[in-house]
Amino acid sequence: MQIAVVQTNPIFGDVVNNIKRALSIMQSVKADIYILPELFATGYNFIDEEELKILAEPIDGYTYKEIQKWAKENSTYIVYGFPEKADKIFNSSALIGPNNLIGLYRKVHLYDRENILFSPGNLGFPVFDLPFGKVGMMICFDWIYPESARSLALKGVQLIAHPANLVLPYCPDAMVTRCLENRVFSATANRVGAENRGGFNFEFIGNSEIVAHNGKILTRLSAIEESISVVEIDLSLASNKKINQWNDLVLGRRIDQY
Ligand code: ACM
Repeated sequence: MQIAVVQTNPIFGDVVNNIKRALSIMQSVKADIYILPELFATGYNFIDEEELKILAEPIDGYTYKEIQKWAKENSTYIVYGFPEKADKIFNSSALIGPNNLIGLYRKVHLYDRENILFSPGNLGFPVFDLPFGKVGMMICFDWIYPESARSLALKGVQLIAHPANLVLPYCPDAMVTRCLENRVFSATANRVGAENRGGFNFEFIGNSEIVAHNGKILTRLSAIEESISVVEIDLSLASNKKINQWNDLVLGRRIDQY
């Protein structure tokens, strides 16, 4: 199957054009699943809760409708991050299929000012069965807690779709370890650019990447440019947790000793 990571540079608050721009980048390659960044349509640096409330959308809001339409036209799957207006406001990601919404994830580990803007996720780390394999989601800073990827791996995930707005420099290399220790594939879709608003400055590091179950970096994008990369992968490789005759990474866990 073909997987694409999409790296964008959204303009804060310009939802209509940010979606158009992302879709035009996606139009340039054919893939079975496209992964977009965290909060890809709104931008990241909300000044306060009031601003977030205005830009947050219900799961079936404008962003969903636009993305769903494109997924249908192109018979494909898409993962994207958005600020979700529900009973509270969550930093969420949606998994869309050609015909409908398939999955929702709410960011469990909030980063920096997100802690005063969003409610922490309350759906755990679900895994979804797609025609080409088992896909789960985590969002950006979730990477720093190995429990995120491990929880997904123990539920049988083969591909971790990882929308991100990374600011710390460590994640692209750390994902190599997350994939290696769980023998899963990951696709981190990060953004580029900076948002300096309300006295808070965030600079995003790009370097979106796809990493294989054996830790190999299959593609890594630039630190500064919008771009897209598509890679052919065999997700079934993620089902074999054996690294030799004696070591199976899942069965070898000594849970009685932890
Ligand atoms: C982050 O979690 N957006 C750094």
